[in-house]
Parts: sequence; structure tokens; C-alpha cells
Amino acid sequence: MATYRIAPSILSADFARLGEEVRHVLAAGADWIHFDVMDNHYVPNLTFGPMVCQALKAHAVRPDGTPAPIDVHLMVQPVDALAQAFAQAGADIITFHPDASTHVDRTLQLIRGAGCQAGLVFNPAMPVDVLEWVIDKVDVVLLMSVNPGFGGQSFIDSTLRKAERVRRLIDASGRDIRLEVDGGIKTDNIRRVADAGADTFVAGSAIFGQKDYRAVIDAMRAELAR
Ligand code: DX5
Ligand code: ZN
Repeated sequence: MATYRIAPSILSADFARLGEEVRHVLAAGADWIHFDVMDNHYVPNLTFGPMVCQALKAHAVRPDGTPAPIDVHLMVQPVDALAQAFAQAGADIITFHPDASTHVDRTLQLIRGAGCQAGLVFNPAMPVDVLEWVIDKVDVVLLMSVNPGFGGQSFIDSTLRKAERVRRLIDASGRDIRLEVDGGIKTDNIRRVADAGADTFVAGSAIFGQKDYRAVIDAMRAELAR
């Protein structure tokens, strides 16, 4: 069975207490910290940059002291300079939208060369054809199940078909690549997303919108174990 990862998006956390929120959600059983970077250019919203990532690095630890990966989702254009800045700021995984980079292969090389895992993000209406040519340089494929820019939107169902297709591509490659889905994931649909082939689940409002983070994460894991 796949080893599932739950990656809470701190986009829906309390920005006035981000360090505490990161510790709290990891103590509640989260696997990765999903960090949504928006530039008010590629997407119509603005969040945080590499300095905030660096400040949160010290908080991205589990109660037993082991570090948790920081999963940086870049919704920015251009990509390269910020990708490098995030690598220096302690990012573990950096994903970007191929349509935001002029030279996708070069950007992937740059991220891996900086010691991070690299990934491509596909918006709901974007084809995944580019994967065929760079799959040897990809560690994560992130499928957007909402249009990027905001938390709290509804899951777009065509993502399930896309996930099935990407799962086949990953399996055919024989490589160890995570298939992550982002947007509108809740306890009541996470099982369907897993059935379509995803193994990593971003959830923002579903987790941070509730008082008891552990109860939500436990409920999601129970669905995944069904
Ligand atoms: C949207 C972001 C998502 C968002 C998910 O642009 O990439 O990570 O925070 O939030 P929910 O889970 O609320 O849809
Ligand atoms: Zn995201």
C-alpha cells in the first residue's frame, strides 16, 4: 500500500502565529508543511517569501525533534531566482508551474542542484505532456484541483482523471515520484483522490479551519486506511 503523506497548507493558518501553527499541526500528525508562495502576478494574491520560510524552518520539527519537510509551492513568475532563494531559506521540496518558467528543464536542474527535491505543478486546465520529457528530473508531481490563488475553494473533479493518467506515467517511469493533489481536499473526498492514484494530500482550510487539527488529520488517515 502507498505511504500516504498529509501536507497542511499554512495558507489557512493564523498568520499572526505562524511558528506556533506549524509546530501545532506537526504535533497533530502532519507529514509535510505546505508553503504557498503567491506573487500577485502569476496568481491574484500575495503571501510570503523566503525570509518567512527561513524563520519557520526552526519550527518545522515534530515533537520527537525530527525535522519535517517544507514543501514550497511557487505560484510565481519568473521562477528561477525565487527558487534559488527558497533553497537557501531551507526549503526541502520546491514545486513550480511549468507555464511560469521559460526553461522548465533548466529550472528543475537548478532546484535539484541546490539540494532540494523538484516538482512540477499543473493547473486544472493544463495538460501534463511536458512530463514525458523531464520525468527523469522530477521528484514530485502536484496536480491543482482548484485554480491557484486562494484557499477554501471547491475540488474540481476532472483532477481525478488527470491523477489516474499521471499515476500511469509515474509507474511506467519506475521512478520514486510523489503524486500530490492540492485544493478542496476534505475528509469526505480524500479517499476518492487516493483511489485515483494520489499519495500526498494538501489540505488548508479543512485542517486549519477546525479547532482540533489532530481530529481532522486522524479522520483523513482513517479514510485513507479504509
Ligand atoms: C491554492 C493553494 C492551496 C490552498 C489549498 O492556490 O495552492 O495549497 O491553500 O487550500 P484548501 O485546502 O483550503 O483548498
Ligand atoms: Zn499549494
